[in-house]
Amino acid sequence: MKTRPNLRLIIFFTLLTSALTMVVIATWEKVLRPPFYAWVDRNYPGPENAESRWKIEQRTEHFFISMTVDVVVVSILLMLVDRQQRRLVGSEQRYRALFEHAHDGIGVVQGGDFKLVEVNSKFAKTLECDARELAGRNVRELLAQRVVESSNGHSPNSIARLFASSDASEEELMLRTRSGDTRLVGLSYSTIPANDERLIILLVRDLSMRKRLEDEKEEMQRQLYESAKLASLGELSAGVAHEINNPLNGVINFAQLLKDEPVERTNFERQMIDGIIDEGGRIAEIVRGLLTFARHDENEPRQINLAEMINTSIALFGRQFAKDGVRVEIDIAPDLPPVRGDVSRLRQVIVNMISNAHYALKAKSVAATGEKLFRIKAHSLEKIASGQSHGSVVRLEFYDNGTGINRKDIPRVFDPFFTTRRDSGGTGLGLSISFGIVRDHGGMISVSSEEGRYTRFQIELPIVVQAEQQYV
Ligand SMILES: Nc1ncnc2c1ncn2[C@@H]1O[C@H](COP(=O)(O)OP(=O)(O)O)[C@@H](O)[C@H]1O
Ligand SMILES: [Mg+2]
Repeated sequence: MKTRPNLRLIIFFTLLTSALTMVVIATWEKVLRPPFYAWVDRNYPGPENAESRWKIEQRTEHFFISMTVDVVVVSILLMLVDRQQRRLVGSEQRYRALFEHAHDGIGVVQGGDFKLVEVNSKFAKTLECDARELAGRNVRELLAQRVVESSNGHSPNSIARLFASSDASEEELMLRTRSGDTRLVGLSYSTIPANDERLIILLVRDLSMRKRLEDEKEEMQRQLYESAKLASLGELSAGVAHEINNPLNGVINFAQLLKDEPVERTNFERQMIDGIIDEGGRIAEIVRGLLTFARHDENEPRQINLAEMINTSIALFGRQFAKDGVRVEIDIAPDLPPVRGDVSRLRQVIVNMISNAHYALKAKSVAATGEKLFRIKAHSLEKIASGQSHGSVVRLEFYDNGTGINRKDIPRVFDPFFTTRRDSGGTGLGLSISFGIVRDHGGMISVSSEEGRYTRFQIELPIVVQAEQQYV
């Protein structure tokens, strides 16, 4: 900013005043003076009034010239000041709008004592404070109160590092919000000299959105990886299952022939033959599971009423849930749109979800849970990522407060043959088959769980109008 008087302006006004004075004097002498003098002569005649006439003429002349020049010069000066002021106000408004509507939070801090001079609304919003309440507060203390240690190396030291730099630096911090959540923010710091002090400009960027998008991307990649893994496993197991199927049928049939043979057998022999048939039957069940797992859909896609499908599937377990003291909650949006797909395969998914929850609830004592709860929710929603709609989906949620899943097992639950209940007849195929079925319907399935507390499976199926085009 220029603080010295503007030399050009002084010269301009000197010249203006001189020129104007000359014009006014000329006008006075040529136009006004003769009639005015004549008027004075008439009113103050004779030699005794000579001095009065002289005074009146001189004073009026001075008064007229200086008044006229002053009025004109001051008016021009005022006009200039006014124009300049309007320009300044316009520029101030533009900068204020820029400051207030900036995508990032901006805080202006005094260099000496780190007191906040001014913040924009985004700054206050990111820190969940009132903008007025922030003015005058020490920003180092404010941030130090909020910062939390996080697993990815964000620590309270970052604040000391940020402010230790002499001119500019940048740090990522994990801050605790007023509601108790944590939020990742990027802080950048730069200093600017202003008059005789140093000002610090702090830019705060909310990185939680970026983090969420990264997490979503990671989840999608995981699903892709899972799909690819299951596809190759599917091919392999289908091959093996076919190979096993024939000799297995042979084994069971031969044992059945032995059983049907009309000869006296010892108890031991009968037990052995039944054992062969039963165990063979179990293998046959697994082989059937494997074939389903690998099967690509052959049925015509049909419109499916999920609410009805959920209700009939739950009905299958009704007595068992009641016997085991499980409260069942069903919360299905009344306007749930239909999805398209293979009825029997989707039912298989739902039944497996219910069956898994039933086992997890049965395995947990009432003392540990308080009340045993199984809840199914279904509603539709618009999928929006990066501000773009990705179509509508139906989201099914299966929640139980049963045993939960051990943290290290969570990434393995969709793996074929992964089961924690082999003793009670688990095959470990249910979830891997479900994963394949949901994927074939263009949807996705995910799990969240805490051991000893709860398990939640979410399934999203696209709502498709032209189903044949999207149904895989
Ligand atoms: N609701 C649930 N609560 C706790 N664990 C579960 C739940 N659902 C699935 N699991 C875990 O995932 C494993 C695999 O499930 P699944 O593929 O259906 O096979 P299975 O039911 O034959 O064990 C289960 O053995 C269990 O450890
Ligand atoms: Mg299962």
